[in-house]
Amino acid sequence: MQRDPRIGHDEGDLTLTALRTEVAHTHPSRLPIRAFPTRGVHSVIAGIGTYAPERVLTNADLEKIVDTSDGWITERTGMKERHIAQAGTASWELGVHAGERALADAGVAPEEVDLVMVASSAPDAPFPSMACRVQEQLGLTNAWAFDLLAACTGLLYELQIADVMIAAGRARTVLVIGAEVLSRLLDWTDRSTCVLLGDAAGALVVRAAEHGGGFRSWSLGADGREWDLLRFGERAQTGAYAAGDPNPHFIMRGPETFKFAVECFTRSGQAALDAAGVTVDQLDLFVPHQANRRIIEAAARRAGIPEQKVFINIERYGNTSTATVPLALYDAREQGRLKPGMKVLMSTFASGLTWASTVMEWE
Ligand SMILES: CC(C)(COP(=O)(O)OP(=O)(O)OC[C@H]1O[C@@H](n2cnc3c(N)ncnc32)[C@H](O)[C@@H]1OP(=O)(O)O)[C@@H](O)C(=O)NCCC(=O)NCCS
Repeated sequence: MQRDPRIGHDEGDLTLTALRTEVAHTHPSRLPIRAFPTRGVHSVIAGIGTYAPERVLTNADLEKIVDTSDGWITERTGMKERHIAQAGTASWELGVHAGERALADAGVAPEEVDLVMVASSAPDAPFPSMACRVQEQLGLTNAWAFDLLAACTGLLYELQIADVMIAAGRARTVLVIGAEVLSRLLDWTDRSTCVLLGDAAGALVVRAAEHGGGFRSWSLGADGREWDLLRFGERAQTGAYAAGDPNPHFIMRGPETFKFAVECFTRSGQAALDAAGVTVDQLDLFVPHQANRRIIEAAARRAGIPEQKVFINIERYGNTSTATVPLALYDAREQGRLKPGMKVLMSTFASGLTWASTVMEWE
């Protein structure tokens, strides 16, 4: 057998699966949902930091840009305003501000951080990672650093990694960030998408629990069969970068996405509650990814979670992808709706498809 010196394989060993070109759609009810309880040292969210750029874009402002109305946006999404970064702002810059505030909130010194992760749906470049930029800016001299791409679910995936690292004794303090300048991904002539997203960052400090709180369960999943439901660019079959898409932007099959989102929230949320041994009655607060008020309300209704236990702040920020959960946790705590001892369910759903839910006892 002839050896190819360039790739270091025997030619006969190369057995590649033929790439699928058709899209193999599935039904929302067929999503493979599973969940498991946590083990080992429990970890908690010990600090929250948020940051949103100064400029606010209201629904009335959008009426001047595209053929839309405050009434339509409010009724269909629950959004009233969103923040927009100045042109040229990097996602990691927003992450630095949120990260700094989260460290201060937790009373943690930069050198105490063992790992920093940045999740984003609007990464600034293939490399260096945004996490390395944050590490340098905040002086996290003892931290290793990497980025995570799972669209809006990235923040909960990061939290799960932080939880595992602490449970295994590999880290004591982890800084988890979601940072987004989504406004630069938008086609500002497309009213069906440009009204939905906003720019912001959120950061969470994760540390070992000291008073009996902590993550109790996780439901984590992905289903690539629906890869084209939410995508970046027309040439998304191979990826906008690979295909050299000259003008990629955010594209979504809205009504179908809506159905998958409700299904994911309901089933993965219930799976996480079951794995944690927590009933809906015992739940104190549901903090979902803020993509659409109607999605959240439909999912809460199906799960039997009463309105007063659901936290929504979508009217202030729109959908900020990986930043929505930290922004919501921060506002919930500010409003006195998040207190030690409370049982909290967090859920996200995103492009990929990806989803995650976790049940945590707040400390
Ligand atoms: C995007 C979304 C708000 C649209 O709401 P919808 O009720 O499904 O609306 P449709 O897309 O069916 O459009 C209904 C009508 O409103 C119109 N429309 C769309 N955007 C509009 C806007 N900004 N202003 C006014 N009209 C608009 C459409 O053109 C359509 O008009 P037509 O009936 O004359 O064709 C909704 O589908 C949604 O939230 N989907 C999921 C979003 C999501 O979760 N995204 C991120 C996941 S991380």
